[in-house]
Amino acid sequence: MSIIKVKAGASRYPVFIENNIQDGGLSGFIKSTYSRNTKIAIVTNNTIDKLYPDITETLFKGLDNKLEKLVLQDGEEFKSFISLQIIYDRLLESNIHRNDIIVAFGGGVIGDMAGLAASTFNRGTNLIHVPTTIIGQVDSSIGGKVAVNYKKIKNIIGTFYQPEAVFIDPVFLRTLNEKEIINGCAEIVKYGILFDRSILADFRNNLDIKNDERLYEMVFSDWFINIIEKCINIKAKVVSKDVFDRNYRNLLNFGHTIGHALEKTFKLEGISHGEAVSIGMIAAINISISLNLIDNEFKNMILNIYKLLKLPHRIKDCDLNDILHSLKFDKKTKEGKNRFILIKGINKPFIYNSLDKGVIIDNIKKCMYNYI
Ligand code: NAD
Ligand code: GLY
Repeated sequence: MSIIKVKAGASRYPVFIENNIQDGGLSGFIKSTYSRNTKIAIVTNNTIDKLYPDITETLFKGLDNKLEKLVLQDGEEFKSFISLQIIYDRLLESNIHRNDIIVAFGGGVIGDMAGLAASTFNRGTNLIHVPTTIIGQVDSSIGGKVAVNYKKIKNIIGTFYQPEAVFIDPVFLRTLNEKEIINGCAEIVKYGILFDRSILADFRNNLDIKNDERLYEMVFSDWFINIIEKCINIKAKVVSKDVFDRNYRNLLNFGHTIGHALEKTFKLEGISHGEAVSIGMIAAINISISLNLIDNEFKNMILNIYKLLKLPHRIKDCDLNDILHSLKFDKKTKEGKNRFILIKGINKPFIYNSLDKGVIIDNIKKCMYNYI
């Protein structure tokens, strides 16, 4: 087991990375930190609940605390006010107070929504994340961003709310389908491009384009668990430097400016977060090339990693004007100008404040099938 300590403003919390938290890791933490009168509300979705029907018994084995399970509907489109209200209703019915615990058991959607509920219910109720997807484990459970979508705009209603602890168990990744494994890898490639090139080398050294199975089996391998740990360390460092995302943390938004615009354009249903970020990173690379910051060789190097991971790099079935309209809702926008994260080379990201609209349009077009 390893423990990574996150320092986020005034908050300090551990991220436990271990196999088999169901064998006592989480219940041991709860037993040693809270009283037996502390109630626990576990929030999950119907897909995960079917896969792990006994999770309440296994995660909280040996505890006498009162337990409640809230099962929401699965999907980005349910990351909404309506779901948030369902959570509040159930928390009220279960008489949950601020010293009780909300456990988010699921991917980024459940983590963000249960996190926002925890942040606001009783003006802040204890929160523990148990992320079950790659994105959840390497990104969304760490750093305190919690949110719901509103009017199809991504994460537009949210707060910063740090958990009490995060429990990462790679064993949960073994039930992910192929699509979700690929999605999760988009955020990992992002860390590789921005901060740690060895992550890209790990993919190159361990995957084989002619052997699909290696891709789908990687969640069972030690080298992949090492990658997860590398990503968590990076995220913890970035968050500690700029917890409220005023400047440095913006770097983690590489690929997300156009990525979130794509998610909005597809009304949160036709494209996953991972796919959108994957295409968004190539758009940001295209922009960096057109500003002579990097060359095509760099892009080809990244596209070779994309091939290994089967990540998408082109936009299908979409109107350019819709994407441009969606870009207006980016949270990094300042004085009407989109803030882009660009790169000057491997592990050399920076924030570009005043990108010419023509450059943005040209480079989105380069990512669109119908413009090629
Ligand atoms: P998700 O939560 O929708 O999970 C993807 C799919 O995997 C869902 O269908 C889910 O039911 C299923 N699933 C979850 N765990 C599983 C398991 N162990 N086995 C089988 N299936 C499982 O999406 P995601 O990719 O985890 O996260 C994307 C979301 O996270 C987006 O809403 C994004 O905005 C958000 N996000 C937030 C942050 C942050 O800092 N807060 C960072 C990155 C992404
Ligand atoms: N996922 C981006 C961030 O946490 O800032």
